[in-house]
Amino acid sequence: LGQKIHVYGEVESTQTIAHALVASGAPEGTLVLAEAQTAGRGRMGRAWHSPAGKGIWMSLVLTPRIPVFFMPQLTLLSAVALCRSIQKVCQVDIGIKWPNDLLIKGKKVSGILLESSGEDERLKYVIAGIGISVNLKTEDYPEELRNIATSLAIESGADIPRESLVQAFLLEFEELYALYLEKGFAPIRLLWEALSVTLKRPIRTHTPSGVVEGIADSLDDSGALTVITQAGEKIKIYSGDIELK
Ligand code: BTN
Repeated sequence: LGQKIHVYGEVESTQTIAHALVASGAPEGTLVLAEAQTAGRGRMGRAWHSPAGKGIWMSLVLTPRIPVFFMPQLTLLSAVALCRSIQKVCQVDIGIKWPNDLLIKGKKVSGILLESSGEDERLKYVIAGIGISVNLKTEDYPEELRNIATSLAIESGADIPRESLVQAFLLEFEELYALYLEKGFAPIRLLWEALSVTLKRPIRTHTPSGVVEGIADSLDDSGALTVITQAGEKIKIYSGDIELK
């Protein structure tokens, strides 16, 4: 992975560029990096704050021939790879909030957005979009993000070289991706569980059928989160956001 790296100054979104590169034949492992994004995309239609030179804003092209149904597993795999690479490069106490937000002391430092295209129920390609707030300082965040977001530099007290982190991430991802393609989700699920700050904690989430509150109990084979409510009912959450209480 990362054999071909496309580096840009300012772009709207590295995701858009990666989709276009795939359309013109870019192979698996192609990586798009930008210094700044003017329209960085987050999950669930949200914007992603991507100021110049302060973070890692990147998109990785993947072409696993797996059923579309397994895509959430790749989301979780990406979070594990990212969490482990950050642990290798800097001294921070970081964990994963389901499905794939990385938190330090309850604040978000990194997010992952997977966008895919499929045919005949198999994935054709996936663009794994990764945003890491590396060297942002408090004043680099708009007021409304200051209580919920943080950066590696703020939390570790030192600027982090972005190249080392990109390199560590690619190595980590490559290793886990090979393991996943060979052995399936089971080993990835164990790693995810060990890094999770969600499991066994009280959570709240909004689902199409209403608010669910309970204890996040476990991950299932598809990557869904099983929540046990106060009434003892088991409910599976497949997508969306959860709130840690
Ligand atoms: C989230 O937590 O909501 C996901 C954030 C993903 C942000 C990254 S930055 C690089 C790539 N390009 C985008 O427009 N979004 C992703």
